[in-house]
Amino acid sequence: MSNSNNKLWEGRFKKQLDGVVNDFNASIHFDSRMFREDITGSVAHTQMLAKQGIITVDEGEKIIEGLCGILEDIENGKLEFDFGSEDIHSFVEKELTERIGDEGKRLHTARSRNDQVALDIRMYLKKEIDCIVSQLKGLILVLCTLVEKHATTIMPGYTHLQRAQPVSFGHHLLAYANMFSRDIDRLSDTKKRMNVLPLGSCALAGTTFDTDRGFVAEQLGFDSVCGNSIDGVSDRDFVVETAAACSLIMTHLSRFSEEIILWCSWEFKFIELDDAYSTGSSIMPQKKNPDIAELVRGKSGRVYGNLISLLTMLKGLPLAYNKDMQEDKEAIFSCIDTVKLCIEVFTPMVETMRVLPDNMKSAAAKGFINATDGADYLVSKGLPFRSAYKAVGQLVEYCIENKKTLEELTLDEYKQFSELFDNDVYKAIDLLVCLEKRTSEGGTAPTEVLKQAKKVKEKLL
Ligand code: ARG
Repeated sequence: MSNSNNKLWEGRFKKQLDGVVNDFNASIHFDSRMFREDITGSVAHTQMLAKQGIITVDEGEKIIEGLCGILEDIENGKLEFDFGSEDIHSFVEKELTERIGDEGKRLHTARSRNDQVALDIRMYLKKEIDCIVSQLKGLILVLCTLVEKHATTIMPGYTHLQRAQPVSFGHHLLAYANMFSRDIDRLSDTKKRMNVLPLGSCALAGTTFDTDRGFVAEQLGFDSVCGNSIDGVSDRDFVVETAAACSLIMTHLSRFSEEIILWCSWEFKFIELDDAYSTGSSIMPQKKNPDIAELVRGKSGRVYGNLISLLTMLKGLPLAYNKDMQEDKEAIFSCIDTVKLCIEVFTPMVETMRVLPDNMKSAAAKGFINATDGADYLVSKGLPFRSAYKAVGQLVEYCIENKKTLEELTLDEYKQFSELFDNDVYKAIDLLVCLEKRTSEGGTAPTEVLKQAKKVKEKLL
């Protein structure tokens, strides 16, 4: 499919590139998505060349007009990518020269595709990071609304998937809000480190032309200019960091998905997903399946795989540019696309789920999740914690044998295990009281949960 097999390196070669090799070598079918960044970068580069007198002002204007025309025509569908071109950079340059003539051939002065591609990915990822950050903010806001609504909705908190202590559903959801908030921090840190202009590194060694890299950086919204041209064209740390940040987002989404899947089961029935976010079975009429959550959980694999691909691709590369690095794009694009898609479906799925507090409460009533509070009660009456722990352990054992809960025991029964038990024990082990008393910072008390939710929300602004 090599209809325009004319190459940038024509002068040095006698034969045309083999057709299959041409396709093998090409990246335009995936890097064409960076056309905006490529053209915007070229415009800034041209402005700099003209300002520095490396090309004339007239030549600069003609090039910029040509580039803007190409951008406009791609945007409105008038210009299609030529998939015979090697990559987006050669496509734009060839198109420019066809449109404006010889001036187009001056665009590539004092740069190389090596610094050009390093620029394009940085610009592209900066934009996509902003997009993911705003999606995460949307998800966190949805969670915070649920947190506020369910600050007193009691559910069993688990360790080892065993009922452990009462918490509120809001408290549990706020844990995820905190994870996603750190995901935003990670993406923002990554963006800060990537916000360094590589353009002007040229092929690897810099240039003999009197360029003004600071000017280009300013035009394109970069904080600074890379201080080593070899590093400028070789560095893909920021791609790995983005993939790592995406991987952790997927980890968080996946753990959350796993819980949603559990909570939807008849064994839990803590929530029910909206019909719009559930699927049925082709054979079992009673089924309502959490496919969306399962897919999100499943898609984490491809994002982790991309992270490993990127690390492996880079680990043996001598400096500076090597063609292996072209492989970074499909991997990171796949990370970005997957994460965006997952958050897009996950957020409304969570927003529309029906919470079933009664089922949570009856699960919380079983499993002796107030046993710690029973022990704390004895401690408040003066018993050392270890002895209190033992007394309540024996109480639980007694309850299991006699098919009773702690709430159902008589005071006489209590007193068989410790004389310190009194009538106020029933209040002390009341689940809501257990919740309300955990006012330690970050604890499950509704007052504390609401305070922490407010903090998470404030951080978003
Ligand atoms: N398509 C290439 C890439 O994605 C652009 C840089 C090509 N440079 C080169 N010297 N062949 O990495």
